[in-house]
Amino acid sequence: MADRVILEAGKTFSEFSLLTNFTSKDCTLQKISLGSNLGGMKLRLPFMSAAMTSVTGYEMALSLGKEGGIGVLPARLSIKEQVEIIEKIKGYEMGFVEDPIAVRETATIDEVVRLVEKHGHSKVPIADRNNVFLGLFSFDKYLETNATPGESVTTIMIEPKDLPCSKNPNISLDEAKSELTEKNYLVVLDELGRLVKIAFRKDVENIAVGAAISTHKGWKNRAKSCIDAGADMIVVDTSDAFNEFTMKVIKEFKEMNDSIPICVGNIITYDGAKYLMENGADLVKIGMSSGSICTTQREKATGRAPMTALLNAARARTDFQKDTGKYVPLVIDGGVSAAGDMIIALTVADVVMMGGYFNHFFEAEGEKLDENMQVTNHEPDIKYVATWGEGSARARNLDRYGHVARKTFFAEGEEGTVENWGRLKPKLKQDIRKIKAALSNTGCMNLEEFRNKAVIELMSTYTQQIVGNTHNMQVKE
Ligand code: IMP
Repeated sequence: MADRVILEAGKTFSEFSLLTNFTSKDCTLQKISLGSNLGGMKLRLPFMSAAMTSVTGYEMALSLGKEGGIGVLPARLSIKEQVEIIEKIKGYEMGFVEDPIAVRETATIDEVVRLVEKHGHSKVPIADRNNVFLGLFSFDKYLETNATPGESVTTIMIEPKDLPCSKNPNISLDEAKSELTEKNYLVVLDELGRLVKIAFRKDVENIAVGAAISTHKGWKNRAKSCIDAGADMIVVDTSDAFNEFTMKVIKEFKEMNDSIPICVGNIITYDGAKYLMENGADLVKIGMSSGSICTTQREKATGRAPMTALLNAARARTDFQKDTGKYVPLVIDGGVSAAGDMIIALTVADVVMMGGYFNHFFEAEGEKLDENMQVTNHEPDIKYVATWGEGSARARNLDRYGHVARKTFFAEGEEGTVENWGRLKPKLKQDIRKIKAALSNTGCMNLEEFRNKAVIELMSTYTQQIVGNTHNMQVKE
């Protein structure tokens, strides 16, 4: 009996605090990598956007993919829709940034930092009044210098002699690409040293995109069509994956394909995670009842606090690796809504999937609303983005909510709105810096090291209130 009643309360991300560890002088934000290897597929960022119709469509998948994460196209889309988006993303070629936004040598560091925060581009060229290139401002470098905001930007710019530059203004994209295999960017100048364009490596790399499938009839055709179109990952999207249907799908998927990974979820227990690993899942996705729009706990008292679910899945990962030598990456899905949550989650998980967080951005699929809650497409008017879960009235996804619910269906998610945060890139970059800063505090150069070394500590509710907030003061409006 004792085993069947757990009296220790489940935990979520914000109940933990990360401890610091020794940081060497080499452990700088510039050098820290957030790359991850997911069953053979490499990402530059440990982020997946949720397979929700109000979150991931072409715009979100493209923007997140360009930054180095992966968008997962919902299984609720038709096969044709999924395929068209995948093909469009795979056909997308960013190429050169022509006419890059440059600043004059008279600009202060402060002015350039504001530009960076607005656009999210962390590198800004500096040119004189004749557009002659003088150097490059790098936000990461700025963070590591002692320069003060009021100083001239030229005091910390990287000089042209230290930068990869091409003096051939007619350089083709293919020629640039071959140079970008070793460099992160290439500044293209004309014979008078004037700035013409810049090519960034991340703009010419493969943009990853994932596609969700269900375990219901027709999944095979959907998976095959998406793989043929170029999908980099298939995600079996069910609210409860600890069942025979899922096992059968993994087995048949493996017979059909061995080139791209299959991510399977969701589960919330040690046994559930072990079951999926033993049956061949390349990645295991964790979470139930913790999603921002989720009503599962309220409706059927089922689910688990996300950090507890993740820690149990991680035990299964360790045991499975001991037995087989195979490391199965974990995706935490649901309840991660801010950089602090991402940091705690990444002490255990390999990747973070988010719905509500990405929903805030202009690129989300949800309708854009003005302050009168009227649909608008006019960017400056957008105040809110509509959000709905896959189990809500608008998105009712019988496939995701499965076999039992199929006949007696009840909603497991609600609809609502979230504040508009503007474009994805600037905020995402800011949150990436917070994550890198946390890694730096723990002396970790990459996420694998972070998962192995990071120590987190549980706080009491009282401590959390004091430590997690400002206190004994009035915050200035
Ligand atoms: P969020 O990042 O906290 O918003 O959680 C996103 C996750 O919520 C998704 O990836 C799904 O696993 C889950 N989800 C999506 N739609 C629903 C729903 O209608 N009910 C319950 N959970 C949902």
